[in-house]
Amino acid sequence: MPFDDKIELIAKLKPENPANIALQSFDPVYFETLDAGSQNRLMACLNSGIENPTSEMGCYACQPSDYDDFRPFFAKALAAYHKVSEDAQHKNNWSLERVEDLPEGGVLDLAAIGLPALSMRVRVGRNLAEFPLPGSMTRNDRVLLETRMMGAFGKLIADPDYGGAYHSLTPGSPNEIDAAAYQKLVDDHIMFKDMSNDTYLTAAGIASDWPYGRGCYVSADRGFIIWVGEEDHLRIMCMERGTILNRVFDRLKVALDVVAGIEGLEFAMSGDYGVVTSCPTNLGTGMRASVHIQLPNLTSDGTDKRAKQIAKPLGLSVRGAGGEHTPIGADGTVDISPSARFCITEAEIIAALYKGISLLKKEEDSIA
Ligand code: ADP
Ligand code: ARG
Repeated sequence: MPFDDKIELIAKLKPENPANIALQSFDPVYFETLDAGSQNRLMACLNSGIENPTSEMGCYACQPSDYDDFRPFFAKALAAYHKVSEDAQHKNNWSLERVEDLPEGGVLDLAAIGLPALSMRVRVGRNLAEFPLPGSMTRNDRVLLETRMMGAFGKLIADPDYGGAYHSLTPGSPNEIDAAAYQKLVDDHIMFKDMSNDTYLTAAGIASDWPYGRGCYVSADRGFIIWVGEEDHLRIMCMERGTILNRVFDRLKVALDVVAGIEGLEFAMSGDYGVVTSCPTNLGTGMRASVHIQLPNLTSDGTDKRAKQIAKPLGLSVRGAGGEHTPIGADGTVDISPSARFCITEAEIIAALYKGISLLKKEEDSIA
């Protein structure tokens, strides 16, 4: 579609979709000040929100420098989504030392609030500075990035603290797994779902060339996982069943530093915005810290509607048992995580998960 038509389409969609942040943040006067190449780049960022007008965020960065290069657009979008000022600056910090209202000794033990062992997970999105972001990668870029990562995984696999294996979806890869093995990893919450079914990622170009360049590294104990080629180049995570949230958080920090120290892996960072991610909803920390928890009372109607109503003012997001855009589990299991990622520290996110779950549990129990 020619640019003029696209600008016209945005103008038409804007009043019809007040909740689409990208459409609302698009300023044709600013757009006109850009050269043709930059106009192309910015329009590519908005494509998902144009093709999916009911999007909440409605855009994805396509190059590591997009947030800085198109600051007048992204600053507005970030301010609207994250409820911060347009000149907000992000600071990363994994230390719990300065976090307020922590339980004794900083131990975030869910057993202390009467919960049984739960599945706990902390993930961070990371992108390599040297590659385009997934929305504008070619198939060759995707396979090259996977090959680069396979070299890095070789180092982890040789390390007795990690071990494990890399599983690839790339046709013809020496590490290729078959459809059944892939499905088993998805069912075990280890591997990501088929991205070509996601209308946002497809319109953004992020799901293109599926399944080339896609795969995941899994440590020997299956508790440390790195996705390759999903919404971000890498999603790095720790997962474990237990009650002490610090275990997954601390392990992730150690492992992340090991990965960041491997030669040839420089993560994309923005001076003002912190960790660069494809989706502006993840910018800053790229972190989502979650637990799978049964809330039978709050989900007694078979949906997450009531749980969402209660969770929202507590700063928590509710997802289905299979992740984003999936239904709740048959036993009332939902995925709870703090919604904030930007202008909050990593340490504050894990503390917010603990505090949020304590409050949510009180609500759940009060209905019993
Ligand atoms: P992301 O967390 O990377 O944004 P999703 O919400 O789609 O992505 O979740 C990806 C996978 O991780 C899904 O299989 C989901 O069930 C799983 N998952 C998320 N949190 C947990 C958890 N606390 N325990 C077990 N699996 C989890
Ligand atoms: N692009 C979608 C929207 O704007 C999803 C955004 C959040 N989810 C994500 N996986 N980044 O509503």
